Amino acid sequence: MCAQNITNITYDDLLKGNEKFVTDSLAVDPDFFSNLAKGQNPPVLWIGCADSRVPANQITNTKPGEIFVHRNIANMVIHTDMNMLSVLDYAVNVLKVHHVIVTGHYGCGGVIAAMTNNEFGLIDNWLRHIKDVYRLHADELNDIADEKDRQNRLVELNVIENVYNLCKTTIVQNAWASGQKLGVHGWVYSIETGIITDMKVSTYNSSNMEDVFKFK
Ligand code: CO
Repeated sequence: MCAQNITNITYDDLLKGNEKFVTDSLAVDPDFFSNLAKGQNPPVLWIGCADSRVPANQITNTKPGEIFVHRNIANMVIHTDMNMLSVLDYAVNVLKVHHVIVTGHYGCGGVIAAMTNNEFGLIDNWLRHIKDVYRLHADELNDIADEKDRQNRLVELNVIENVYNLCKTTIVQNAWASGQKLGVHGWVYSIETGIITDMKVSTYNSSNMEDVFKFK
């Protein structure tokens, strides 16, 4: 958990930036804000890392109104997290999104921290869930000699396990049972290249789920 690449942006810069955002947006489309104010109908829920370098809209070239976003440290889907569950429930049952995408990123500080034996404080309780992912895949991970490669593989496996965690929720299973069109996907973003890699674990029903997690 380290702070690198600190920018010298100031508090006042943010408000000046907002003025420029308003001016620029209205120059392109005078109805930009009045149209957005009518409501939202995003087709996608994004569950991403809180990392400042992985903003959902910019890296997918999308605009306000196009992605419903939930972010936390290391893009976790933890089944007791009321914040995540509330966002998921609203996105699936009210907004009727067609896709939920868990997006991790290589070099994730949360994942790297979870691989150490260092104590960081309260966050250790959050990182514990990543250690559980490590334990599930310890044989594969321990065979990777290079530390950075091992970290990056855990980033990928953490995304995949959190896609499975989404599928296990009653929210997603009930949507599928009622015939709602809903895909759950896992992506990993490279901060070094800007490129997103699809983990190819897209799931559209509960047929491949381990039996114990299925609700009939
Ligand atoms: Co991260």
